[in-house]
Amino acid sequence: MGIKMIVKEVLSDFPTIEKVNYLSTASIGLVPNPVIERTKDFFIEMAEGGTLALDEETEISVYDNLRNEGAKLFGCEPRDVAVFNSVSEALNSIAWSLELKEGKIISTNIEFPSVTYPGMRLAEKGNVQVELITADNWVISVDDLLEGINESTKVVFLSHVEFITGQRFDLKKITNRAHEYGALVVVDGIQAAGYIPLNMKELNVDVYITGSYKWLLAPFGTAIAYISRNLCNKLTPAFVGWRTPKNMWDFNPMELKYATTARKFEYSTSAYGVKIGFAESIKYLHKIGIKNIQNHDMKLIDTLIQELDSIEGIKIISPEKRGSIVTFTIEGKESKKISKKLCSLRRPVELTIRQNMVRVSPHVYNTEEDILEFVRNLKQIIQEL
Ligand SMILES: Cc1ncc(COP(=O)(O)O)c(C=O)c1O
Repeated sequence: MGIKMIVKEVLSDFPTIEKVNYLSTASIGLVPNPVIERTKDFFIEMAEGGTLALDEETEISVYDNLRNEGAKLFGCEPRDVAVFNSVSEALNSIAWSLELKEGKIISTNIEFPSVTYPGMRLAEKGNVQVELITADNWVISVDDLLEGINESTKVVFLSHVEFITGQRFDLKKITNRAHEYGALVVVDGIQAAGYIPLNMKELNVDVYITGSYKWLLAPFGTAIAYISRNLCNKLTPAFVGWRTPKNMWDFNPMELKYATTARKFEYSTSAYGVKIGFAESIKYLHKIGIKNIQNHDMKLIDTLIQELDSIEGIKIISPEKRGSIVTFTIEGKESKKISKKLCSLRRPVELTIRQNMVRVSPHVYNTEEDILEFVRNLKQIIQEL
């Protein structure tokens, strides 16, 4: 499917795009209309009808459906998928379930805080240390990362695609090295899943977590994780609740018999409507095809880089190996001022400022014209400021 075909097919599901040049998916993705409708309908049905809308069968199917769709996204079996409420929750749940008593945790100094904090929290107790590989101008040298992994490493916490620069890691390389030393690799894929085709067997990671509200175009309030069967069998969940047992509908408070699949990490009721919405949005993206979306998004990024390269004073921070995120600085200009000006245009440009850098993150609802329009506006504003 060509770039124009994809956008034409989906554009009517994202009415905001007509009014706003939305280039901020790395913060929050736009939710397509059919997903909004499905989520909203269920919220209303349940609020009005209680158990009439959410009987036991429905409650089971909401999670089953999401695990099934998650499995298609991850390229794994549904039994290896657990449903969470956020990426941070999943990262903490896994971190505490590891019951680390000693050894080294590896991450980087440009990570999203939720990726490094669970390890730091673990390091407050016992003989656990966190080593953060240092970036050079916001980019991590993969060689440094690989060198950091050694016999004392127990686990590597890393994003597949970095949230500030869009740096995309070769997970296979990192996993191979980690596994050589018996270390685990826990990946935060919230900035990757939705436009990068995934196959857990191929990536060989131990845990891969992703959330609903960015590139997967669903509402806030849910996340899914692939947990390798081998690791899952070894772990006892840190958090437990009525959903944890194999036979959760027995409501037996005297005996805790864990589910035998990744489902054992699920423990409570939750916002069922957003889980329904999340399953729906993954289906929506699969209809377009993740590979098609990747081609589309990366073509927009290539155009953006090419255009930005021609503007004097712009320094692109994102490395060549990147996802659908481009971050740059403008010599002598304050990024916040530029962003404010862009927001006040007739068709405002919505982007993000991170660490005083401009971050642009286009997705399936953006066109090449959106990118060109943004660059035209940017050039004009730079001249004016
Ligand atoms: C890499 C990364 N991980 C996690 C999160 C937050 O995830 P959650 O809100 O689901 O905990 C973000 C949000 O920007 C992020 O960029």
